[in-house]
Amino acid sequence: MKIRTLLFFLCLSLGYCFPSGAQSIVGKMTLEEKARCVVGIKRSDFPPTNKGICARTAPFPSYGIPTLALADGSSGVHLSRREKDRATAFPSSMALASSWDTALAKEVGTVAGYEALRYNINVLLAPGINIIRNPLCGRNFEYYSEDPVIAGNIGAAYVNGVQGNGIGTSVKHFICNNQETNRGHNNALVSMRALREIYLKGFEICVKEASPWTIMTAYNSLNGLPVQENPWLISAVLRGEWGYDGLVMTDWSIVPHNTAAQLHAGNDLFMPGSDNQVQDIVEGVRNGRIDIADLDRACSKVIQLGQRTWHGSKNKAPDLKRGASLSKRVACESAVLLKNEGMLPLAAKGTAALFGVRSYDLVAVGSGSAFVVCPHVIQLIDAFREAGIAADAELEDLYRKYVAFASADIAYNEKIKVHIGLPLLPELELRRSLIDKAAERNDYAVITIGRTAEEGKDRNLQDDYYLSDTEKELISMVCEAFHAKGKQVALVLNLAGIIETETWKDQPDAILNVWLPGQEGGTAVCDLLTGKANPSGRLAVSFPVDYFDCPSAYNFPFEHPEEGKNYDFTDYAEDIYVGYRYYCTKGVKVSYPFGYGLSYTTFEYAMPKVKAGKKSVSVSFTVRNTGAVPGKEAYGIYLTAPSGGLDKPALELKAFGKTRMLSPGESEIVRVELPAEAFASFNEEAGEWQIARGKYTLSIGAEAEKPRLMMEFKRN
Ligand code: BGC
Repeated sequence: MKIRTLLFFLCLSLGYCFPSGAQSIVGKMTLEEKARCVVGIKRSDFPPTNKGICARTAPFPSYGIPTLALADGSSGVHLSRREKDRATAFPSSMALASSWDTALAKEVGTVAGYEALRYNINVLLAPGINIIRNPLCGRNFEYYSEDPVIAGNIGAAYVNGVQGNGIGTSVKHFICNNQETNRGHNNALVSMRALREIYLKGFEICVKEASPWTIMTAYNSLNGLPVQENPWLISAVLRGEWGYDGLVMTDWSIVPHNTAAQLHAGNDLFMPGSDNQVQDIVEGVRNGRIDIADLDRACSKVIQLGQRTWHGSKNKAPDLKRGASLSKRVACESAVLLKNEGMLPLAAKGTAALFGVRSYDLVAVGSGSAFVVCPHVIQLIDAFREAGIAADAELEDLYRKYVAFASADIAYNEKIKVHIGLPLLPELELRRSLIDKAAERNDYAVITIGRTAEEGKDRNLQDDYYLSDTEKELISMVCEAFHAKGKQVALVLNLAGIIETETWKDQPDAILNVWLPGQEGGTAVCDLLTGKANPSGRLAVSFPVDYFDCPSAYNFPFEHPEEGKNYDFTDYAEDIYVGYRYYCTKGVKVSYPFGYGLSYTTFEYAMPKVKAGKKSVSVSFTVRNTGAVPGKEAYGIYLTAPSGGLDKPALELKAFGKTRMLSPGESEIVRVELPAEAFASFNEEAGEWQIARGKYTLSIGAEAEKPRLMMEFKRN
């Protein structure tokens, strides 16, 4: 039996368990101590190491309460570039969700949590599980999906992985932080049904499946009230209905809030914390504005968190080899093959012409608090060389010089940004004659186009969501020049978010979307292009034909980031019709649908079985690899509810998963138990979840509108 387990039983046998232990400490604290306990401490008071840590709690040595260190970590531990410490950069959250694999998400959480533990971090401020409502949100790369079942379950798996190390997570940003413009004050206007079925659902799944030790409340307001001051959200729904017993902390306050209201609503820890807040709490209790019971609750939650996460000082750098190999595997399993017209996997190696700045300067991770200072980033050009594939030397020379010169220039002008990621270098304009000569010298071309994004601002439509003129010209000229010689072109997308693809996607022969693939990105791309790895990722978001097809297009600040529409408030007028729920129900064509993704092999679905019971519905089917190479298949189970009663989307994802690696001819039986609650919709008038009676249809397969199997069952 482990020492910790022994100690736990010893505590229990002495009638001393953690919660009452916390309460008895609170009972001994002075008012000032309690106030300091619930407010983070200033950066200048931090120990001189681990400057990347973004906040700490106050220590109270006389009560045996240590300081707790908190660091960001949605795709790896966020440490400072100024120190020598390095952490593994994993593919972005948006990429991880495209794996459709909760076991993989748990592995990432386990390794990120292990690295955090070795750096003496007590809480990893991740995962972000907000819904990807609009393609332009600057933090979409930190979030998982437009669907709450994917967001909630991938998030829960990540939490379980991290917390398995004995450190906490902070599931964020609770709730409706779906845009960055004016994020401190924007008022999200959302119906109760959309809240329950879409925006709260992912958090509900994550809380119930993984019991995160902390949750972070968002900056924005919801239906007129700052989320951090909303007792209905934090105390009634989160703690009351869902039974959450962890700690609730505020996001890193960028706006002055009403501390009394925040405490009363259910926040326990004020981050990053200021002396004014401590003062305000002390005065508030003295003059009756703050109920001491609220402060005592908050204080005991902070102490309990310390008791759960304190491990003493490790001071040992983690073994980063484990992270590197997992990061590469995740990059391979998250990549989505969007198009392949007889080009991939590359058969004969030949000589490659690598175009695009990102082939030489990959965007491994996004910017802002999710940025990861990692040991290295493997570039596509280097991975090609490592794999023994010859790459055009003239192009390499040209691009390398440009990257070296322009990066130095940007780094010099943007010193401050080094810590959170630099802006991207613009694409290089090439002359047609140079491309024609490259087409003569080489056997095929690979173009890489990339995007980054960062918190605090949303993306632009021009030159970001839509490709720039230089990028469009590059694609057209390379495709024309190589096709004229009977040679093929593959396009690699290195994306922080959704972009427009419809107007140019017919030009290249193959398109591989690797998202932000983490530090091993170059090797992963090379393995995927050459067939050493078989792509098995599926989109967890839809790629619309045009931005203005998106249901929230006009209710998002795409016009005037500073003061235009959707600055003060944003109307979630599309209601529950977010992403594929909208496109499938209204019959709107998309460029690449939710669930889309190709493989180098083929799969057959068979033996559908469904058995409906009162409390749940059992579903099973088999998936067989009918192609020539091993592969994994992601699947979804979509529900179509009977008509009549509440308005329902044409399809809703209720469960998803991925098979193990199947060799040619091999099959796997998939069994899923869907609880009855999965069929319920929220009736606003009645204020309750209701399950309609009648005939339900289940569509099996990853792509919503192309079911591989269909089954029906009845509920009376
Ligand atoms: C972000 C959070 C982050 C915190 C600490 C805030 O600006 O919104 O996601 O955890 O900073 O870095």
